[in-house]
Amino acid sequence: MAPSRAPLPAGVPALVVLLVSWAALGPHGLEGVEPVAPADPEGLQCPAVCSCGHDDFTDELSVFCSSRNLTQLPGGLPPGTRALWLDGNNFSSIPAAAFRNLSGLGFLNLQGSGLASLEPQALLGLRGLCHLHLEHNRLHALAAHTFLHTPGLASLGLSNNLLSRLDEGLFRGLAHLWDLNLGWNSLTVLPDTAFQGLAGLRELVLAGNKLAYLQPALFCGLGELRELDLSRNTLRSVKANVFVKLPKLQKLYLDHNLVAAVAPGAFLGMKALRWLDLSHNRVGSLLEDSFPGLLGLHVLRLSHNALAGLRPRTFKDLHFLEELQLGHNRLRQLPEEAFAGLGQLEVLALNDNQLQELRPGGFLGLRNLAVLNLSSNCLRDLPERAFQGLAKLHSLHLEGGCLARLGPLAFAGLSGLRRLFLKGNSIADVDERSLGGLAELLELDLTANQLTHLPGRLFQDLGRLEYLLLARNRLSALPADALGPLQRTFWLDVSHNRLEALPAAALAPLSRLRFLSLRNNSLRTFAPQPPGLERLWLEGNPWDCGCALGALRAFALQQPASVPRFVQALAEGDDDRQPPVLAYNNITCASPPSLAGLDLRDVGEAHFAHC
Ligand SMILES: *[C@@H]1O[C@H](CO)[C@@H](O)[C@H](O)[C@H]1NC(C)=O
Ligand SMILES: *[C@@H]1O[C@H](CO)[C@@H](O)[C@H](O)[C@H]1NC(C)=O
Ligand SMILES: *[C@@H]1O[C@H](CO)[C@@H](O)[C@H](O)[C@H]1NC(C)=O
Ligand SMILES: *[C@@H]1O[C@H](CO)[C@@H](O)[C@H](O)[C@H]1NC(C)=O
Ligand SMILES: *[C@@H]1O[C@H](CO)[C@@H](O)[C@H](O)[C@H]1NC(C)=O
Ligand SMILES: *[C@@H]1O[C@H](CO)[C@@H](O)[C@H](O)[C@H]1NC(C)=O
Repeated sequence: MAPSRAPLPAGVPALVVLLVSWAALGPHGLEGVEPVAPADPEGLQCPAVCSCGHDDFTDELSVFCSSRNLTQLPGGLPPGTRALWLDGNNFSSIPAAAFRNLSGLGFLNLQGSGLASLEPQALLGLRGLCHLHLEHNRLHALAAHTFLHTPGLASLGLSNNLLSRLDEGLFRGLAHLWDLNLGWNSLTVLPDTAFQGLAGLRELVLAGNKLAYLQPALFCGLGELRELDLSRNTLRSVKANVFVKLPKLQKLYLDHNLVAAVAPGAFLGMKALRWLDLSHNRVGSLLEDSFPGLLGLHVLRLSHNALAGLRPRTFKDLHFLEELQLGHNRLRQLPEEAFAGLGQLEVLALNDNQLQELRPGGFLGLRNLAVLNLSSNCLRDLPERAFQGLAKLHSLHLEGGCLARLGPLAFAGLSGLRRLFLKGNSIADVDERSLGGLAELLELDLTANQLTHLPGRLFQDLGRLEYLLLARNRLSALPADALGPLQRTFWLDVSHNRLEALPAAALAPLSRLRFLSLRNNSLRTFAPQPPGLERLWLEGNPWDCGCALGALRAFALQQPASVPRFVQALAEGDDDRQPPVLAYNNITCASPPSLAGLDLRDVGEAHFAHC
């Protein structure tokens, strides 16, 4: 967690705020910023193994002893120390009253210091301590009175320890605590009163434990809580009455649990809730009143569950929902009114389900939807007007499906659509009116389909199209009338097709074309045009290095940067995680026999003298 996000109690000096942000960087974040001041001018001794810094403006002293391989606390810490950095050492325990003389200490960092235990009296005397970092140690347990000595604590970091239980009353009296992180321990149950008295708590992290059950009384009294993280536990259900006393909660993380059932009204009364993450669970169905009254909800994540169906109007109260994630479930169909009430929704993810059909007008009412992801389903066909009413849709993802054809009016109503992704279907049959009305379209990806021809009027309305991706189809020709409307297209990929010829007239209308890939076709000749080409991919064609290629040879020699011999293979994986693939961009002559195997650019001028 980043403590710098949350408000600090009044009176915490600016220096401490700065130090807290450094603390988030961990023990090694400090290198290079440590001030080096061997001894204070006023005679305060700095322990020999540490370095000390005095802030003249706030008149505060910080002592840095991070990562010094210490096995014992350094002696002689100056009594006026305000911030003490002891992280990254190897103290197995902290003896009683170790900091007794540091009554002015506000910040103490003991992260990653090999601590297996803390004496109950270890923190004796630290009445002014605001920020205590004990993360990444080996603490198994903490005695009930450990924090009795530090009533001023605002943030307490205990994540990444080995805590398996919390003693009743451990946090009693910490009325100023706003950030408590108990994540990544081994907690299995919590006492009913674990968080009693933490009236100021804003953020509670319990992620990464083994909690299987939350009792109704647990979060009572946390009236100021804004964020509750219960992700990565073993919760099996979300019961009613557990979260009701959290009127100010804004973010609730329940993802990566084993939740199979959400009780009706489980989230009742959470008017401030903006973000609810239930992804990566086992939820099989949702009731019509699973989410009543969540009027403030903006994001609802239900992806990676076992939802086999949706009921009509399940989300009807979520008037301000902007993002609904339903990907990676088992949805076979969408009922009528599945998305009723979601007038503010901007992102709807339904990818990786088992949808086989869409009903016409099935998304009506989603008037603000900008992104719709239907990739990796098995839609075989799109009914006419499937997307009616989605006038604000920007991006439509239909990749990796079973589409075999695009019928007329498939995309009717998508007057604002900018990007249409149809890669990896089996589209062989395209009606010439299927892309009608997509006047704002900028990018059309039809890569990896079964197209054998392009209807003459297919692109008629696509006067704004910039990217046209047709790679990995079975096209044997690019008809000039088809490409005619593409006045703005600057990127055209027809690699991995069966083009045998590309008549000069075909590309002539594409006056803005800059990038053209013709790799791996059956082209024998090509005249480089239109004039503005900046990059040509030509590898993998049986070039006939006769007079017809004279112009291409001249172009390649005059503009070597446009036809480099070696290029970064592009747009074939779309996978940023893969290292870039480098590929040859050879223009290898297949004929005449005397030139076979030579690169066109290496063929001597004399061969073209007679042309
Ligand atoms: C700490 O000990 C390790 C090995 O035991 C050594 O490599 C490292 O340099 C030591 N660090 C300091 C700051 O003395
Ligand atoms: C910490 O110190 C103990 C001895 O006190 C030693 O056995 C152990 O290896 C040390 N751990 C590290 C990480 O240096
Ligand atoms: C605290 O200060 C007293 C007197 O100044 C000194 O004797 C004692 O050793 C100090 N204790 C610690 C833990 O530094
Ligand atoms: C849509 O779903 C596909 C398939 O899982 C995924 O790869 C892609 O990242 C998603 N795109 C968006 C914008 O959500
Ligand atoms: C051309 O396509 C074939 C079959 O798809 C493939 O085996 C070959 O590697 C491709 N050649 C190039 C240069 O990409
Ligand atoms: C491309 O040309 C280089 C030499 O410039 C050659 O080593 C390589 O084998 C050629 N690649 C193909 C696929 O012809």
